[in-house]
Amino acid sequence: MKSIIVYQSKSGYTKRYMEMLSELVEATLVELKTLNPMVLSDYDNILYAGGVYAGKISGIKKFFKLYGDKSCDKLVIVAVGASPSTNELKNKLMDDNLILEYNDNSDKLEFFYLQGGFDPDKLNFALRAMLGAVSKSIQKKQRKTPESLTDEDKSFLEFFRTANDQTSIEQLIPISKFIGTSSTPD
Ligand SMILES: Cc1cc2nc3c(=O)[nH]c(=O)nc-3n(C[C@H](O)[C@H](O)[C@H](O)COP(=O)(O)O)c2cc1C
Repeated sequence: MKSIIVYQSKSGYTKRYMEMLSELVEATLVELKTLNPMVLSDYDNILYAGGVYAGKISGIKKFFKLYGDKSCDKLVIVAVGASPSTNELKNKLMDDNLILEYNDNSDKLEFFYLQGGFDPDKLNFALRAMLGAVSKSIQKKQRKTPESLTDEDKSFLEFFRTANDQTSIEQLIPISKFIGTSSTPD
């Protein structure tokens, strides 16, 4: 079974995860911006991974556009974000990113979520401005109606308090098991 991993990473955490995963499952690793969509037809398993920004999985629209009406044995979408993983968060990300709508169900599609990291020094000007705007709106809510703050809001504020790295090879185990691994750690 041949596998390819395509990714887009703005501050490096998705990239780090996908480098580890490509070794675990012996997959070809390609950055979305250099992907030649024609090569996708050569693979049985296709995985796309992107960081989450303002609720959207980075690059997902472009990936599905390039994927087009191809098919494969296993289609895997991975989101890398700030909050710890919960089923509620995963369902919301799938809905907000229209993941099932892009797929005609002829492929076996599976969605995974990984907790990434935060390093203010790796953010460009646009991302800093975006982060400032999102944090401000949650902080405003916290001041006005603290009871309306969701668990996601709270973990967002906590995550961005200081630089942190939540990446771990353990989080990759369910994905490598799904794809079919050659060297999954115990
Ligand atoms: C401006 C900004 C907005 C973000 N928005 C979200 C978000 O809506 N939900 C989330 O879970 N994580 C959010 N994050 C956290 C990123 O998804 C996290 O840092 C991830 O590790 C980034 O992956 P990357 O470095 O591969 O791009 C945001 C980060 C930044 C800087």
